[in-house]
Order: sequence, then C-alpha cells, then structure tokens
Amino acid sequence: MALLDGKVAIITGGANGIGLAIAQKFAAEGAAPVIADLKTPAEENFFFVETNVTQPASLTNLVDQVVAKYGHIDVLVANAGITEHKGPVSQLDEENWNAVINVDLNGVVLTNKYVVAQMEKQGTPASVINTSSILGVVGAANSQAYSAAKAGVANFTRSQG
Ligand SMILES: NC(=O)c1ccc[n+]([C@@H]2O[C@H](COP(=O)([O-])OP(=O)(O)OC[C@H]3O[C@@H](n4cnc5c(N)ncnc54)[C@H](O)[C@@H]3O)[C@@H](O)[C@H]2O)c1
Repeated sequence: MALLDGKVAIITGGANGIGLAIAQKFAAEGAAPVIADLKTPAEENFFFVETNVTQPASLTNLVDQVVAKYGHIDVLVANAGITEHKGPVSQLDEENWNAVINVDLNGVVLTNKYVVAQMEKQGTPASVINTSSILGVVGAANSQAYSAAKAGVANFTRSQG
C-alpha cells in the first residue's frame, strides 16, 4: 500500500515547477492530484481545473469540480505564487506590491477558506500545506512584497485552530 492511496490532493500552482513535482510525487504515492492553476499543466495526465486563487468564484468552482469528480478532498497544497520587482522601499512599485500580496498571501488565505470549508463538511482527517519561503523567515535585501507575503503565509498557517 502506498502512502497516499485513495487521497485526493489539490495543488495550486501545480502546472509546472515545484507544484508539478509535488503532483508527480503524490501520484507516485497513490494520490489523485488535482492541478489548480491559471495555466494548463505541462503534463496532461492529471485532472486540471483552471483556477485563479485570488478569485472566490474560481475557488468555489474548483471545490465543486473536485467534489463532483471524486466526492472528497483530502489534501491541499496552496503553492501558487509569483515573484516580485525588487528594489529599495523608497522606490516601491505599488502595483507590483499589491499583485504579489494578492497572489502570494491573499490567494493562500482564500484557497484555505474555500477548501477547508469542504474538508470540515466531510468530517474526515485532512491536511493543508501552505508554501512559504526562507525569505518569509529571514527576509532579503530589497525584497519587500515577497518576504512580507511569505512571512504572512507562515504565521497564518501557525494561527489555525
Ligand atoms: N523556486 C524557488 O526557489 C522557491 C523557493 C521558495 C519558495 N517558493 C515558492 O514555491 C511556490 C512554487 O514556486 P515555483 O518556483 O514552482 O514557481 P513557478 O512560477 O514555476 O510556478 C508557480 C505557478 O503558480 C501559478 N500561478 C500564479 N498565479 C496564480 C494564480 N493567481 N492562480 C493560480 N495559479 C497561479 C503559475 O501559473 C505557475 O504555474 C511559490 O509559492 C514560490 O513562491 C519557490
């Protein structure tokens, strides 16, 4: 028996990079990965739901589609993220600040809200993994939005009931 046999796992930002590697590893352990991303995945053998993690209606659609197909959600990996325009705070690109906070922090929080509501309804054990970064712990020179967002993700995750 594999570690994740029968588990349904949503991976946001799973179309490529770290998220896709997580999906591949989960599948190797018996899980059914669901890729939730703005972009079509680089690999076609996983169930894909086009999703924007900053949009509640898109997250509701994600949950509805996964429940319609599998009946339950056991794991969430809130991994979708974008990078930032780095620079001194006096030169802060406010539009980029808002975009990074919106995807990297607000997107994680909203994804948790809608997916965890479904997990609570099921009443069975479930897991949530939110992707932060070492920059969320130590920061980095001229990294304003990304370091702040990732620190927010870490403390948001620590603060669940
Ligand atoms: N690559 C690194 O060195 C590193 C280090 C620490 C943490 N991280 C974090 O790991 C995660 C994945 O990083 P990666 O390097 O694989 O990045 P990546 O750019 O390869 O993948 C990110 C994915 O997120 C998707 N995405 C972006 N905005 C979205 C939105 N609004 N809704 C849905 N999907 C959206 C993109 O389409 C993309 O497929 C990110 O949260 C990143 O901040 C990465």
